[in-house]
Amino acid sequence: MSRAPHVNELIATRLSRRGLLGGLTALPLLATLPACAVNRVGAETQPAGSGFRMATFTSIAPNRSDTVSVPPGYGFAPLIAWGDALFDTVSDPVDLDALDRAEQEQRFGTHNDMLALFPQTWALPLAPGGARQILCSNHEYYEPSLAYPSARSLSEFTEARMSALLAGLGVSVVALQQDAQGGWSIARDAEPGAGVNRRITPFTPVAFTGPAANHPWITAASEAFNRAEPDVPNGSVACGTLANCAGGQTPWGTFLTSEENFQSYFRVVSEPTPALAAARNDARLVADAAAFGYRLAESRPSLPRPAPYDLSANPTGPALYGWVVEIDPYDPTSTPRKLTSIGRKKGENAATALARDGRVVVYQGDDQINEFTYKFISHGRFDPSDRRANMALLDRGVLHVARLEADGSGRWIPITLDAANAAVAGTDTPAFLDEGDLMIRARAAARALGGTPMDRPEDVEAPVDRNWVGQGAVYIPCTKGTTSQPPAPGRPVRPGETDAGGGQRNVPGHILRIHEAGEDCGADRFVWDVFLMGGDPEATTPMGTTPEGVSFAQSVAVNGRATFTGAALAAPDNLCFDTGGNAWITTDGMGSVFDCNDVVLVAGTDPERTPEVKRFLVGPVGCEITGPVFTPDETTFFVAIQHPGSFDVQLNGFSDSRWATPGGRPPSSFPDGNGAWPRSCVIAVRRLDGARVGV
Ligand code: FEO
Ligand code: CA
Repeated sequence: MSRAPHVNELIATRLSRRGLLGGLTALPLLATLPACAVNRVGAETQPAGSGFRMATFTSIAPNRSDTVSVPPGYGFAPLIAWGDALFDTVSDPVDLDALDRAEQEQRFGTHNDMLALFPQTWALPLAPGGARQILCSNHEYYEPSLAYPSARSLSEFTEARMSALLAGLGVSVVALQQDAQGGWSIARDAEPGAGVNRRITPFTPVAFTGPAANHPWITAASEAFNRAEPDVPNGSVACGTLANCAGGQTPWGTFLTSEENFQSYFRVVSEPTPALAAARNDARLVADAAAFGYRLAESRPSLPRPAPYDLSANPTGPALYGWVVEIDPYDPTSTPRKLTSIGRKKGENAATALARDGRVVVYQGDDQINEFTYKFISHGRFDPSDRRANMALLDRGVLHVARLEADGSGRWIPITLDAANAAVAGTDTPAFLDEGDLMIRARAAARALGGTPMDRPEDVEAPVDRNWVGQGAVYIPCTKGTTSQPPAPGRPVRPGETDAGGGQRNVPGHILRIHEAGEDCGADRFVWDVFLMGGDPEATTPMGTTPEGVSFAQSVAVNGRATFTGAALAAPDNLCFDTGGNAWITTDGMGSVFDCNDVVLVAGTDPERTPEVKRFLVGPVGCEITGPVFTPDETTFFVAIQHPGSFDVQLNGFSDSRWATPGGRPPSSFPDGNGAWPRSCVIAVRRLDGARVGV
């Protein structure tokens, strides 16, 4: 078993070498991505002459206001919020206290994360503009403290109410329309099935594809889920999807959603059963539970939950989640497909790019400390003229894990059955029984094969051209590492904080960048560097203090050289790119590091310049910001405001105070204002003159 050095250790070594070699000129494979990079829906919006184009807006000041702040000359408008009606069968405004499962299944979900836009007709290169778009939005989780406004204690969260909260998770598919003034609104359908509008929830029938589709864990768990739901179509499993964080789009116009923190939904609820006793003696399941953080031991929940989430009755239930799920937004009758060929993990995203030979590449981060960055490469090749055939491309291929070397090189290690079993031979990791077992326990295989553990790799993104061909650059936001790691593992080393054991935390996080060999996303080799080292470029001392009084290293320098100038960066999470090669970065936890609500930051990616980071948007109190996406013409920037009011400006969680002081109101009223109960939502940001955002 080869144990790879942690990325932080590698960065330190790599960067000292880079200093000796005189910087980026030492990277012969460095991709100059923006020459033909486009935003994922911006096929014909590429500026004449192409090249890098710096964002020109005025960077705004940090703040703790309970609203959205944008630069002079810009405005924002709420587009859709939790509970808004998708069909005429339910009405607006929503009564959040009256939400039941049936209502929620016809309304926009909560805690929205990734956003993706699809034109009315999908064909590459994508058509420009379009006053009608289809929006896909992930719904990641729920917080009881932000639900049922009139409830005065958790005892009012009945099983029916918990089912309604579950129905707020998954995915919303919503038609959008733009008016003559450029404003966007949702286009309701008369009823489910009448148009593209759709809710996909943890109750929706789905299908499993790929090598683990018939794995015994999945078969057993599927039976448990199907027992709880009547009328499940043959071959389907009524487990839907949940914990949907980020995702991606395929070149054939489907939506990919990644299931991230699914473990928290599963608990031992009822008296232990023989099935649970057997599970506790199954080394593979015990290892799986430890890896993902669900407990096969007693872990009775404080709130009720549907029977399939009871590990006593359904001990392999967690095997149904942690997958990438493919959804056809154009067909509301289509069955979402769980793609087991891409491997099971706490998947943050699923960014696709075509390799130079037409194979499909899916990049994915596994958002847990010391987990890995992956790429899947399909066996088959993309055929732009055969959408139906493309739908099977992600069923067969090879999953790889990234290994970064100290000299700045790296490689993608194929996760194959023989190699994985050779790597775990003689170790405590149980052998992999077959390809399905390998994909269910992909993390264990990745570790054994020498993948490089990282500080919570989040929304890995790879810019593509008009024909969806990857340009070879891959960005990996590592959002944070708040515990000190031993000397080998760690974060990029910043001055001032190394502890006695040589370890360091990585409180502000950082963004790595990979350059695939030959600028080909199908390559098995790459070089890498640090794109942005989180911190404050204006800081005059190596150490800063968080609003909660925690001391942390805040230099943005790597080997004595600043990685950027401008606004402070912390907790980078989601990413998108404009046609000028600028990275639009949303944060999740900025306010725990610097005195500001979560933000949208913009940074140029020209390797010839030190980026200037500009603060484009500051969100309301208690939110994180997710799902950045441009319309094809880049005149609208949509972004999601997730869980406004989850904590106050002193960072006190509302969940800690709500039940102690019944009747208390959350510390935000975004987006409705005037003391209204806060709701997760999507906003549209536009220039007041209607021109392209960021230019
Ligand atoms: Fe759902 Fe990793 O953020
Ligand atoms: Ca995220």
